[in-house]
Amino acid sequence: MSPLLVTRTLPEDATDAALRADVLHGLTDHPKWLPPKWFYDARGSELFERITELPEYYPTRAEREILTVRSGEIAAASGARTLIELGSGSSEKTRHLLDALAPAVYVPVDVSESALTQAGQALVEERPGLEVHALIADFTAPLDLPATPGPRLLAFLGGTIGNLLPDERAKFLAAVRSLLAPGDGLLLGTDLVKDERVLVRAYADAAGVTAAFNKNVLAVVDRELGADFDPDAFDHVALWDPEREWIEMRLRSRIAQTVKVPALDLAVDFAAGEELRTEVSAKFRRAGVSEELSDAGLELTHWWTDAEERFALSLSMAR
Ligand code: SAH
Ligand code: AVI
Repeated sequence: MSPLLVTRTLPEDATDAALRADVLHGLTDHPKWLPPKWFYDARGSELFERITELPEYYPTRAEREILTVRSGEIAAASGARTLIELGSGSSEKTRHLLDALAPAVYVPVDVSESALTQAGQALVEERPGLEVHALIADFTAPLDLPATPGPRLLAFLGGTIGNLLPDERAKFLAAVRSLLAPGDGLLLGTDLVKDERVLVRAYADAAGVTAAFNKNVLAVVDRELGADFDPDAFDHVALWDPEREWIEMRLRSRIAQTVKVPALDLAVDFAAGEELRTEVSAKFRRAGVSEELSDAGLELTHWWTDAEERFALSLSMAR
């Protein structure tokens, strides 16, 4: 079995400092917000995996369908010897790409140490000869990737790019481009604009798993910063913004309450009905994706969708 290499590119205390900064900034802003990356402690990562199996949550199945059908074409078009994946989570769908590409090295990158190490361990056991170099890192910060053989294919699946705000997205794509050499590729998963009812159902499932995932960010702030958020004092909200074409997840305070965050010496007042934005999940159209890629110096060469045209995978090449 090849060894699994795990590198933490964040200093041990950076997560804590970043969480403090985000909580201070987000909870003192109007309206209040928290960045979605804080959902993903071990429980959050488990809840996300349960979301991917929900009947209402179509993106994972749709993207898996595309990967099942198109991985051979992706491998032929990219010729990649290294596969880098940002926000790799369980790396479950990635197995289709690993089968087709048979790369020398796989570099999964994620903030969730639990998801990353479980996935990495399983992959080295399943695939003798595959070198897995896992990075515990924040993909919105500068990335220090290991030197690996080219050409390189950087995959960003699941529609996770939609969890970045438009200005964050532009910065992110420019940073991705700077990691690639001419001839390297970006494989990008984007969820597509569709009927509002289908979209809202995907983020407000009947079993309440997405509600538990949403509220998990409060448990993270309670555990890490000693806060006294009571998740039961908030309702899960998912709504479609037709102008910005994104789903917004929020937590709505059921009552007027004051939440204490001792690590920040902060008391946060919530009015009854006040909402805290925890995530945006933007939905895309082909023209917009192509333009954003082009603005970052990436040329869209392939666009694949599932049979129902719910989700797209695009391949673009660094110019
Ligand atoms: N790619 C997988 C998982 C998507 S869930 C799929 O398609 O099913 C989003 C993943 O991105 C999670 O594993 C989460 O831990 C990770 N993530 C979210 N924000 C991140 C950030 N800023 N830096 C690195 N990883 C992040
Ligand atoms: C990871 N990301 C693409 C998911 C999404 O659909 O935006 C996160 C998620 N939020 C609620 N359900 C799933």
